[in-house]
Amino acid sequence: MTSAATHPATLSWRDVPRVPLHESLGAARHMRRDMLGVVGSRFERHGPVVRQGAGPMRMVNLAGPDAARMLLLDREGIFSAKRSWDLIMGRIFTGGLLLRDGDDHRMHRRLLREAFRTPALESYLERMNPMLDDMLRGWDGDDAFLAFPRLKALTLDIACRVFLGMELGEDTRRLNEAFEATVAASMSVLRLPIPGLEFDRGLRGRRFMIEQFEQWIPERRRQRGEDFFSRFCHAVGDDGRPLEDQEIIDHLIFLMMAAHDTTTSTLTSLLYELAAQPEWQERVREEVRGFGKPAIGFEDLLKLPDTAAVIQETLRRYPPLSTIPRVSTAPFEFAGCQIPADVMVVIYPIHTHHMSEWWSDPFRFDPERFLPGRAEHERHSHSYIPFGGGNHMCLGLRFAEMQIKAVLFQLVQRYRWSVPAGYSMPVQQAPISKPTDGLPLRVEAIRS
Ligand code: HEM
Repeated sequence: MTSAATHPATLSWRDVPRVPLHESLGAARHMRRDMLGVVGSRFERHGPVVRQGAGPMRMVNLAGPDAARMLLLDREGIFSAKRSWDLIMGRIFTGGLLLRDGDDHRMHRRLLREAFRTPALESYLERMNPMLDDMLRGWDGDDAFLAFPRLKALTLDIACRVFLGMELGEDTRRLNEAFEATVAASMSVLRLPIPGLEFDRGLRGRRFMIEQFEQWIPERRRQRGEDFFSRFCHAVGDDGRPLEDQEIIDHLIFLMMAAHDTTTSTLTSLLYELAAQPEWQERVREEVRGFGKPAIGFEDLLKLPDTAAVIQETLRRYPPLSTIPRVSTAPFEFAGCQIPADVMVVIYPIHTHHMSEWWSDPFRFDPERFLPGRAEHERHSHSYIPFGGGNHMCLGLRFAEMQIKAVLFQLVQRYRWSVPAGYSMPVQQAPISKPTDGLPLRVEAIRS
């Protein structure tokens, strides 16, 4: 936490610079499209601590890696993830890991961790590779190819198989629809259970998923499957207590959401940058061809430095979660400003990832910055935070990286893809980064 000593003139909450109400209202419209622009200009004009809203809706925006370190490491235990995320998606993703704090969070995280360890990850990759072999066929035959919906369908099908242990079919389609409705509802502005409204569709989607999962639990408890669902059914805490049915269901529904949109978003941005930077696409292809096999093995995952750098740079330029919120449960001080309890405190990974103090030429896609020698991400412990940090750091980080590498490994060997000269992907940066045009690509098969 920045001490008052470095900022002799400590500002009281009332005196912290504030975004005028009319500007706040106007900016809300632009935030989705250009979060980086809106937030960047705010910090430029007012400094690294900017107040917004009033009463129960009061909020403070904090800039830079020191703010990220303070909020994410939360050494004094004063920032609640539960209270912030509950406000945003509590009714739809009730009981998810990110919607828990303190000992309760620690206990549940420990229970879920088994499903993310190396042996489990190896088994997920074994299931995923043949699926990808199948799903990536025929991408070159489509003149109106849109990357985003393709990747969305692909990650959802993988989730149904790997997370839930389902065979693809009619059940998966209905579950996908219910799941899509819950994700859409978590971002709804109008949160009323009125038939016809997006939010109500989300609540019904959640109920459908609960009913399905309830039916499958007894069988998953009897048999030891290799999917997340089965693993959660057999997870046992330090006190010997297994997860209750409702806890398993809550974790699964949250996990599907946490995994799905973020991975789709990253894969889409990655495909765009590799289309726009064909020299990097070729570099990844060469690296992958060096392995002389069609699909990635678990033992290969850490032997792809260029591929890893391209993924890291994609996550820097397009962090799927552009903001991370918490609620303060006690007063604290940052950059010489006093901030009271019960304030929504927000940091912006997308802004931190583009600060010229920490990144050279930050708006350029330049994966070399992550390679040894430059390693710009090591300039500060919290200047690179696509997966957050501290107690709530993404539990699916290794799974996500594995899945992205597995897709890319097969894709670069089968296809070459491009965008027309001068094309620039229109991006919606919030709530989750995605292209507003679906990302049209020209995909050509590579004949070997
Ligand atoms: C590129 C893909 C992904 C990105 C960028 C990402 C990003 C994040 C971030 C930033 C957080 C922390 C949010 C906060 O502190 O408020 C988070 C938490 C989480 N993520 Fe991910 N995520 C990704 C993929 C996944 C996948 C594939 C899974 C599961 C298989 C997953 C499961 C989770 C879980 C369970 C949490 C909550 C952890 C906790 O509260 O202890 N994520 N993720």
